[in-house]
Amino acid sequence: MSAILVTGGCGFIGSNFVRRQLADYPDQRVVNLDKLTYAGNPENLADLDDDPRYVFRRGDICNREFVDAALAEHAPDALINFAAESHVDRSILDSTPFVQTNVVGTQTLLDACRAAGIERYVQVSTDEVYGSLGRDGRFTEDTPLAPNSPYSASKAAGDLLVRAYCHTFGFPGIVTRCSNNYGPYQFPEKLLPLFIANALVDRELPVYGTGENVRDWIHVDDHCRGIDAALRNGRAGEVYNFGGDAELTNLELTRALLAVLGKPESLIRFVADRPGHDLRYAIDFSKAERELNWRPQVDFREGLRQTVEWYRAHADWVEKVRSGEYRQYYERQYGSRLATA
Ligand code: NAD
Ligand code: DAU
Repeated sequence: MSAILVTGGCGFIGSNFVRRQLADYPDQRVVNLDKLTYAGNPENLADLDDDPRYVFRRGDICNREFVDAALAEHAPDALINFAAESHVDRSILDSTPFVQTNVVGTQTLLDACRAAGIERYVQVSTDEVYGSLGRDGRFTEDTPLAPNSPYSASKAAGDLLVRAYCHTFGFPGIVTRCSNNYGPYQFPEKLLPLFIANALVDRELPVYGTGENVRDWIHVDDHCRGIDAALRNGRAGEVYNFGGDAELTNLELTRALLAVLGKPESLIRFVADRPGHDLRYAIDFSKAERELNWRPQVDFREGLRQTVEWYRAHADWVEKVRSGEYRQYYERQYGSRLATA
């Protein structure tokens, strides 16, 4: 491919993906469209400022003129849609921006890509669209969609639009669904970066409910390799699951993290549970193994250690992204919970 267009490339996974693409494909240009919400930080890609193969345009994926202009100017071979409102707790506080970006934004991109005759479209989605598992079983690509939060419902709606465009128009779309990512540049509102940042300054770690909820952790590099494999080798109209094969309860994860940091378990604070909290996610990624020759490579304990080191070395990054907006959110989300827990 000579050029790809990425949306949401200033966020956590998008910025890791953009950097990897430029490293792995020296002859390929990468165009990044990002609105720069609270979660979008151009500093995540500041090292690429002088790279002539990288172009950044600030704008909203819901703005058809903006998307059309970028497609016309750069004529990319493919578009990979990372842009989203991505945090479950925020979607419980207010679902409006989730429906706007994750549903209307996806529809806008699909229409613009159809009109431009794009050759490949990848929708970066989540295992949360499948809902919640009991103690056994894993999500496959055939598991019925049963989203439980406003976030996952908006992502499922985006996925279904891609499916409908493939079915109705022969659109060359692919959906990828991944489990919980961790690694560098993740906004410190999600469990791992929040707990690392808090523990480093001996602040409490607010574990929701009993801490028995299970998530499957995957290093962001493994997820980016999977998206790349789907982009280049996936079949149009298909869905591919990616997972890390590293299931842990939140309490197990928190304890492992405190051990790596050398901090006491007395920092753990059980707080009121997330409303509608999904019990367990686990991924069957055998289709990606079979069709894309993909499987996760990063060992979880080693990935966790490296991630902790990254946050330790980038305390200034954490400080900067914890801006005024984040402080207000933290107070709204945790203020009364920590006071009453
Ligand atoms: P993030 O919140 O870190 O980044 C989202 C990016 O999208 C930000 O740069 C933001 O500025 C941009 N954005 C938001 N609304 C926009 C709009 N209307 N127009 C243009 N840009 C906009 O998210 P992330 O964790 O990097 O997740 C990226 C994608 O991967 C999302 O679609 C998410 O649903 C999906 N995903 C995330 C995970 C995870 O564990 N983080 C797992 C599976 C799937
Ligand atoms: O599974 C993929 C999804 O993983 C992505 O689609 C989402 O974008 C991403 O945010 C993530 O969703 P989760 O809700 O699983 O991630 P989060 O980091 O918010 O929470 C992980 C678990 O930790 C979950 O069971 C809730 C719990 N938790 C979270 C926070 C922020 C706590 O116990 N305390 C907290 O303060």
